[in-house]
Amino acid sequence: MPPLTLLGIESSCDDTAAAVVRHETGTADILSSVVAGQTALHADFGGVVPEIAARAHAEKLDHTIEQALDIAGITLADCDAVAVTAGPGLVGGVLSGVMCAKGLCAGANLPLIGVNHLAGHALTPRLTDGVAFPYLMLLVSGGHCQFLLVHSATRFTRLGGTIDDAPGEAFDKTAKLLGLAQPGGPAVQQAAELGNPARFVFPRPLLDRADMDMSFSGLKTALLRERDKVMVDGALHRQDRADLCAGFQAAVRDVLIAKSRRAIDAYMALAPEQPVFAVAGGVAANSAIRAGLQTLCADMGLRFLAPPLALCTDNAAMIAWAGIERYRLGLFDDMTLAARPRWPLDTTARPMLGSGKKGAKA
Ligand code: KG4
Ligand code: ZN
Repeated sequence: MPPLTLLGIESSCDDTAAAVVRHETGTADILSSVVAGQTALHADFGGVVPEIAARAHAEKLDHTIEQALDIAGITLADCDAVAVTAGPGLVGGVLSGVMCAKGLCAGANLPLIGVNHLAGHALTPRLTDGVAFPYLMLLVSGGHCQFLLVHSATRFTRLGGTIDDAPGEAFDKTAKLLGLAQPGGPAVQQAAELGNPARFVFPRPLLDRADMDMSFSGLKTALLRERDKVMVDGALHRQDRADLCAGFQAAVRDVLIAKSRRAIDAYMALAPEQPVFAVAGGVAANSAIRAGLQTLCADMGLRFLAPPLALCTDNAAMIAWAGIERYRLGLFDDMTLAARPRWPLDTTARPMLGSGKKGAKA
């Protein structure tokens, strides 16, 4: 295969990211991957403010791209194409990235490749481990929660997903209700380590349904009810907080494991030669959830793959890689490439309900 070097650009949520990825054969080399987060800018608002995000992306993109090229030790002229997230996400941010990529391509006379952000996540196991199609992916973050069968770089089947909140949102809301720091996932996990998961029993919704859909919004209501029972003069005892966190985390883990079991059954029916179950997204960093999924895969005879956290959370290396996959298939865009707030990977699946704190869940 001819070697390819792509610049990737990501700006669909609250991370401005640029990366350079080179591929010839086997697994690719990430020459650079720069992520400039915006957590501090949104901290006072309890969520990502789209206008603030879009403005910050527009301000930070040039510098982030320059940094990525510098670290890779190349110039734009050394790239074979520019890949950019064209959706789904907060449209102002996506637009900033797409406009920037168009400018770079026009100026340096390079091909432009629009990438679906979810395809970037879903194709990451091929970037890191050269996994063969078809594989099963659970994308589980603050904005997404879905099971995907990845048949090729352009064909995905969504087996199911959340019908309301994403698990990361549930972790973040739980942290907020219990007076823990944001982002909530790591704080709740840490508190849960000292807690008793059996003291408070939280609901495991939709487990009676034979599908792969999930629901996490009821958990926070249940948590609020239990919290109020043990709160004294508006204060929570340390052990009560730990037990609430442990109970909550066990409920999320149980739902993810039960639904993963169903998704694996559906995947194994395709008789893949080397079955792989991969996870991506910030929640995949949770050690209890990760350990549960790992045990499940060992029981069901599949390889469990969790790419390094920096490649599980939003980044531009995955966008550059998805661009390389499209380049090799001859799939290019032109200056009419549009920014899409919603862009489901599987257009035949039922539309997802709800809309997360980080924008539409496609
Ligand atoms: O993938 P990500 O960085 O961004 C998107 O949402 O796209 O995921 C961030 C989410 C946050 O909601 C955060 O609380 C959650 O992932 N998270 C965790 C852990 N680390 C991050 N949730 C549970 N346990 C963790 N250790
Ligand atoms: Zn993402």
